[in-house]
Amino acid sequence: MSLTRIYRELKRDLNEIEKGIEEAVTSDHPTLHQAGYELLKAGGKRIRPILVLLASHYGDKDDPAVKKAAITLELIHTASLVHDDVIDNAELRRGKPTVKAKWNNRVAMYAGDYIFAKAIDLMADIHDTYANQVVAKAMQEMSIGEIEQIKDQFNCHQNLRKYLLRIKRKTALLMAISCELGAVSAGASRSISRKLYYYGYFMGMSYQITDDILDFVGTEKQLGKPAGSDLKQGNITLPTLMAFRHSDIKEAVMLTLQLDNPSQKDFDHIINLIKQSGAIEVSQEVSTQYLNKAYRVLNDLPNNSATRSFKEIADYIGTRKY
Ligand code: IPE
Ligand code: IPE
Ligand code: MG
Ligand code: MG
Repeated sequence: MSLTRIYRELKRDLNEIEKGIEEAVTSDHPTLHQAGYELLKAGGKRIRPILVLLASHYGDKDDPAVKKAAITLELIHTASLVHDDVIDNAELRRGKPTVKAKWNNRVAMYAGDYIFAKAIDLMADIHDTYANQVVAKAMQEMSIGEIEQIKDQFNCHQNLRKYLLRIKRKTALLMAISCELGAVSAGASRSISRKLYYYGYFMGMSYQITDDILDFVGTEKQLGKPAGSDLKQGNITLPTLMAFRHSDIKEAVMLTLQLDNPSQKDFDHIINLIKQSGAIEVSQEVSTQYLNKAYRVLNDLPNNSATRSFKEIADYIGTRKY
């Protein structure tokens, strides 16, 4: 399952959105220009703009606010990646050196801020206080999610609830509001925009769980970012939490994370323990449960082509390898 058909269906709108994104990251300042521009040129799946566009099909999809919202959401996502790569100490993003690797953390801090500010600028153009508040709130929650992750790095004593709340904040809410604001900016009814919000939320939870699974089972070539880096950075994600149900694995992980300078071999060992424990399968099951909730929301929406495309996106997330 891939997104190919949806890209084709939305090609014309997505091309316009690409142009809008390009315009937004164009800067007179050479460093800011290069940092934003190269990251956007490197690609990315553009899931959030796709969600906005599809959600707009429940109202007047040609309302100019729709594309502005789509560009805004992708800019916020992009800015959050620039900052995320600082806290995750990541060298590679979308197959290219990260801003922090190519320049440094200080440049990444302001390159991210610059893109956030561009997003706010564009959003203000929609002249919808509610939509602006929704975006502002999501950015606040995302910051809390990322800070919570920093706080819980190397903490092996966290529970499932904490993990779920963190991924809700850092990932699922942005997906939820992409769906909601697509509908709102097209003037769809409140009942539709609420349902789409929940679809985006459940789908976003599954999306991040899959991302966390792929960090264990994917390859750098598939992902465009190094695999196996979550544990190295001390990020305890769902597969690790599930493997902690075996006390011997929890002990082995704790010992490795406490080492002064653990080697690649040390990490390979605990990653293999986690993979062989059945934790990947359990995590996949949790991801599937969220996807099933997303499908259930879709059953409650009009049976039109947008609803069918949302179903395809859920199918893609259930099988994605990158
Ligand atoms: C990466 O998001 C960060 C997560 C929320 C898992 P995407 O998987 O949407 O990244 P791009 O935009 O396609 O690069
Ligand atoms: C998602 O977190 C990034 C944000 C929501 C800012 P991750 O750290 O898991 O995403 P990747 O793996 O770097 O893409
Ligand atoms: Mg992160
Ligand atoms: Mg990261």
